[in-house]
Amino acid sequence: FPLQSLNTFGIAASAQAYVRVTEREQLLGVYADANWAAVPKLVLGGGSNVLLTGDFNGLVLHIALQGRALAGETKQHYLVRAAAGENWHAFVQWTLAQGYGGLENLSLIPGTAGAAPIQNIGAYGLEIKDVFHSVTVFDPRSGETRAMDAAACRFAYRDSVFKQEGRHLIILDVTFALPKQWQPNLRYAELAQALAEQGIAAPTPQQVADTVIAIRRRKLPDPAVIGNAGSFFKNPVVTGAQCAALLAQFPTLVHHAQPDGSEKLAAGWLIDQCGWKGRNLGAAGVYPKQALVLVNNGGATGADVVALARAIQADVQARYGVLLEPEPVFI
Ligand code: EPU
Repeated sequence: FPLQSLNTFGIAASAQAYVRVTEREQLLGVYADANWAAVPKLVLGGGSNVLLTGDFNGLVLHIALQGRALAGETKQHYLVRAAAGENWHAFVQWTLAQGYGGLENLSLIPGTAGAAPIQNIGAYGLEIKDVFHSVTVFDPRSGETRAMDAAACRFAYRDSVFKQEGRHLIILDVTFALPKQWQPNLRYAELAQALAEQGIAAPTPQQVADTVIAIRRRKLPDPAVIGNAGSFFKNPVVTGAQCAALLAQFPTLVHHAQPDGSEKLAAGWLIDQCGWKGRNLGAAGVYPKQALVLVNNGGATGADVVALARAIQADVQARYGVLLEPEPVFI
């Protein structure tokens, strides 16, 4: 079964078998069926955070569960729920149209709602964990379906239990707690500045969304046009001492102090400084407008992307002594 249209990198790999899951019962059925028991399974949402490094010798479960609704409310929050297969951006836009602000900073992120908690998606000053209520998961090991709250999900920067010990859990739906007393989140300087430039002092949630969309369109490639999986590396976190030593040598180093005293460096800046921006290696390349994004210039294989990533890692390591960690999941 061809997977090229099921991964935003547009890598031409294939799987032995494929099931499009539109009902929970299909999923339970696959895991209850002895014929599938020994077959490796790959759960895919929008395929926007994976790198297929070869063919997959097993069954792809494509999560296409649909549905979105107000699931309840508390004194301070609306509880808004999306089934795992809902397109993330469409869901965000729907919440805004319903009058529930809170997700606008995460507009235009590719992928599905169910995949969003896996890497705790974040952009423009907001992470999923900041507005998260709970998920419903199916646990193939026990055959049970259960709810997990934020603590159980163990969110961290581009990480959660679903990338660690909970890799086997399958997210069925996600619920967000969106504030009834909405305030714009303008922590990200570039977003605050872009709103100020439009003369908007007190933005609505939709105005924040529109501004985030404009910034993203300016900097990031549309996966429908040029294959990519967003930021290919995480922004590395170093100690305060390491950062100070680097600053002494590289005074323009871009860094952001973290609450615990560590420093987050801009991987895009490090890659850019190493001269990789806009460069290609075979059919894989570094996006000319944002060095953190690797792209498929047409016909790239997973191996091409891996080779480019390794070359970038080696250069950044040699110059700055920092190891860049990939953000997408390698399959
Ligand atoms: N920079 C360069 N050259 C480049 C790219 C960036 O010098 O080619 C510098 C910029 O000038 C800026 C700094 O690096 O000072 C940070 O760049 P930017 O604001 O574009 O954000 P980022 O750190 O590169 C992160 C997320 C993005 C998210 C943006 C906005 C990670 C790995 N990436 O990128 O997330 O959209 O912040 O919040 O944390 C994703 O995860 O797929 C993703 C796109």
